[in-house]
Amino acid sequence: MRKPMMAANWKMNLIPAEATLLAQAIRAAVAEVSSVDSVLCPPYLALANVHHTVQGSTIAVGAQNVHWAESGAYTGEISVPMLKGLAEYVIIGHSERRQYFAETDETVNKKLHAVLNHGLFPIVCVGETLAQNDAGDTHAVVSAQVKAALAGVEGSRLAQVVIAYEPIWAIGTGRAATAAQAQATCGKTVRGTLAELYGDEIAQSVRVLYGGSTNAKNIGEIMQQPDIDGALIGGASLKADEYSSMVQTTAALYKANASTR
Ligand code: 13P
Repeated sequence: MRKPMMAANWKMNLIPAEATLLAQAIRAAVAEVSSVDSVLCPPYLALANVHHTVQGSTIAVGAQNVHWAESGAYTGEISVPMLKGLAEYVIIGHSERRQYFAETDETVNKKLHAVLNHGLFPIVCVGETLAQNDAGDTHAVVSAQVKAALAGVEGSRLAQVVIAYEPIWAIGTGRAATAAQAQATCGKTVRGTLAELYGDEIAQSVRVLYGGSTNAKNIGEIMQQPDIDGALIGGASLKADEYSSMVQTTAALYKANASTR
């Protein structure tokens, strides 16, 4: 059984002092929940604060982006070695980076290799636009993104990889994909593509998250889908109560599921 994950993407919100307070409140509420991997992804400036705040608990820290080079003349960028010791996870290829910061499948792939080579855990984001969804192209678009992201990555590395399916039309819109839609793309498309690339056993071992307008109300239904192992949460993760409730709901479902096996 894959261990569920609730990853909080705080995006460009919170100064370090605010991030510390939010991490403290979340730690107080979910630190005992060891059956769910909670990952807090603050802006770079707050990474150290959040790292110190959750140290010694079950909560992990993630960065929201990274550069692929080790060091060099890349003004404004952060490398994987700089994140070591502060973050275990790195979000790669978020649609907002693809949309506003010229992230491409090629840069996603370079970043993925850099993160894996340094022993961190990438959370690779894929997802289609509304126009692509309307045109019935979701499967083709998302499958191609998965393949491009993983180009040159050996199967033995897949245990480190998390994939997040985030339909762009569902991000920040309050219009989440239905549980059935999310399941179809996470299952047939993302896991199906992994199976095509690496075989069934590896495909079954990779954690696939759904992201896009998840909240305390809809997380239960989403987490009941067989191919969805967690969520990448934006807006709702900025509220300690709501995020913690999502973690608790997930833990309860996981427990119920485990006892029926
Ligand atoms: P929302 O949960 O705010 O829709 O954001 C989703 C997201 O982009 C997480 O990475």
